[in-house]
Amino acid sequence: MFTFGCAYYPDYLSEKSWCRTTSGEVKLVSWRDSIKYNLERMRRCNVATIRMGEFSWSTVEVSRGQLDFSIFEFTLDQAQAQEIDVIFCTPTTTPPKWLIDEMPEILPVTREGKGIPFGSRRHYDVNNEQYRRESKRITSAYANAVGKHPAVVGWQTDNEFGCHNSVFVFTEAARKNFHRWLRAKFQNNIDKLNDDWFGGFWSQRYKSFEQIELPMSSWADQNPHLELDFRRFSNEQYQSFQREQIEIIKAQSPARFITHNLMTLFSDLCPWMAVEDLDKVGFDHYQMDKEPHPTSSFWHFALMRSLKNKPFIVLEQQPVQVNWQSINQRFDYSWLFLWTLQAATLGAESVFYFSWQRFLGGAEQYHDGIISHDVRVAETWQERAMKSMAKLSDELKERFALDVMPTPKRDVVCIYDSESLWSHEITAQSSIYSSRREIDFATRLCNSTGLGLGFSNTISNALQSPESPKLLILPGYAFEITDEEKRAMKDFLASGGKILSVPRTAMKKRNNQMSPFPLSFLDDGELILPDFGALLENEHDTFSDGKHQFEGALWSEKIEIVKNWQVLASFNSGLYKGSPAVLSRELSGGRHIHIATCPPATEWFFSWLLKALDMVPAVSQPSQLQIIPMQHLSDNKERNFLAAINFSNNEINFHLNSNLSSKASGALLWLSATLDEGEKLKLQTLSKGEAITAPARSFTLVELAL
Ligand code: GAL
Repeated sequence: MFTFGCAYYPDYLSEKSWCRTTSGEVKLVSWRDSIKYNLERMRRCNVATIRMGEFSWSTVEVSRGQLDFSIFEFTLDQAQAQEIDVIFCTPTTTPPKWLIDEMPEILPVTREGKGIPFGSRRHYDVNNEQYRRESKRITSAYANAVGKHPAVVGWQTDNEFGCHNSVFVFTEAARKNFHRWLRAKFQNNIDKLNDDWFGGFWSQRYKSFEQIELPMSSWADQNPHLELDFRRFSNEQYQSFQREQIEIIKAQSPARFITHNLMTLFSDLCPWMAVEDLDKVGFDHYQMDKEPHPTSSFWHFALMRSLKNKPFIVLEQQPVQVNWQSINQRFDYSWLFLWTLQAATLGAESVFYFSWQRFLGGAEQYHDGIISHDVRVAETWQERAMKSMAKLSDELKERFALDVMPTPKRDVVCIYDSESLWSHEITAQSSIYSSRREIDFATRLCNSTGLGLGFSNTISNALQSPESPKLLILPGYAFEITDEEKRAMKDFLASGGKILSVPRTAMKKRNNQMSPFPLSFLDDGELILPDFGALLENEHDTFSDGKHQFEGALWSEKIEIVKNWQVLASFNSGLYKGSPAVLSRELSGGRHIHIATCPPATEWFFSWLLKALDMVPAVSQPSQLQIIPMQHLSDNKERNFLAAINFSNNEINFHLNSNLSSKASGALLWLSATLDEGEKLKLQTLSKGEAITAPARSFTLVELAL
């Protein structure tokens, strides 16, 4: 159903270290024994795969050409003996000091013009040709040395492209490459660039490509068109850097998958581009907020599942304290259980914790691990959790007669387009607005109504997928809808599909200029947008359909209807009082609803909205519960499931809608386990119409016997 893994660092070991042996003694052992005992301990808590090597360059190559993989060779043999698989990494995220001494120009420069020194990580410039050569050389050395070992099942390229704000580098090499990239984009015609970049503004017309500077920090805002192109360019640089490694690994370590550990804490790196050449999507799931946020983790996992429309791996999951927040607070351990089950339900085939052991030294010595600093601890909380989750996985398999976790459904597809996110970031107009918050809204809408959520990078891809969604969401998708997309949207509506858009949609051109014909969704000239703008933090524009009143926030649009659209609700306060707040256009069986302000994520509004969209929720329940519809196909037999994850501290009762429960022919099965009850899983047969109880902080699986 799902397996476990962890990051493991034999390269951090000293000649001798304190260790708890398999028989429980605590003693000073050699690095070989330490590896052996640790792998045995991993096996006992169900670690199926380890990931290693990403920071190992200076251990393996102490000086140029002096390569020694013996510590890894030993670990691989031991892993094989324990039947633990290995994902090996290329080590390019941490070039060693001798290399920096040889080629100091490979160090990056920030937007502020500050040089990044040796001494941390990600200290390289992806544009630098010498570094490209070094990256190929060391990738080849690693692939050659360990790539055919039977324990090695896959590879990870580098580590977290873009982490620590490293996507954009401002070196001379970057500038030269950018010139080349711009020449190709504008067919060597500088006037085209001047036009595209609105060059007359603040006297920014160029005579040649060589004059162009990188968008470094300046008195006032930089040219937003240049910035958008620079972001596209920088992403392509990472893509080609990674492709060079992939080609080498494919040739020298055949039949292994290749992945990369993506992050979603920032949006600088386009995930669709980053995974294009990879076999599998890998993801590092960390939480940044003061409070963990199950809605964001939900859509981050759903996005990862969508990138290749295939299962993915969580290559790093915090287990659970981290070392990099302003206050590194402790977490309730049930988060580990809930995040793991949330990931598995949304398509993670494996969840790796970062990392095996809390480090005794180095910059991350306070980061959590599966096993403690204190070598005397016989069994940690995390080890117990992993054992109990493995039990849950076995139970699910057996009691529901499943071979794999059912697949999350895609009733709703939301557009996630990095260029659109960048466009809103570059010309933000509001420090509190973010289209990522609008994705949170879409997620909560789906979670609390039992709709399955997936993502797509383009409207055409969203609508072309074999199982066409019921609802397409444009969450502040910045750009003009192309003619081809308009046609696809109309066909979709004609077949009964629904579309939902929220503010800041269809307002800009791809070059980051404003569109002179905004809100041209399905046809031109239907809607006019005379005014729009940001709302202050506590400012709300209320809107009403005559019976119900709701609060809009963050952004509002003043829209005039020319034709085809009806008003479902109007603003009744604020600057746009009297103008449409919720607009609807019907086309054959379908309907497009546009909301002219960022809507509230309340149950009350969700049920109003679903009614307006003419969609029936699968469940009715308080929104703290995440309902995930799933499907399992085997031998052409379709089975339907609902997973319910309760993140709250209270038990929640919910009902399936009458439609589903009246179709239920007899039994619904449910299985629920909180971490503490790991050993006491419950299996119950429900009678028709009976409420389902999701205990506090639990996972429940219900089979719909339709
Ligand atoms: C990740 C990174 C790991 C480790 C971890 C700590 O971003 O890939 O190497 O630093 O964070 O939370």
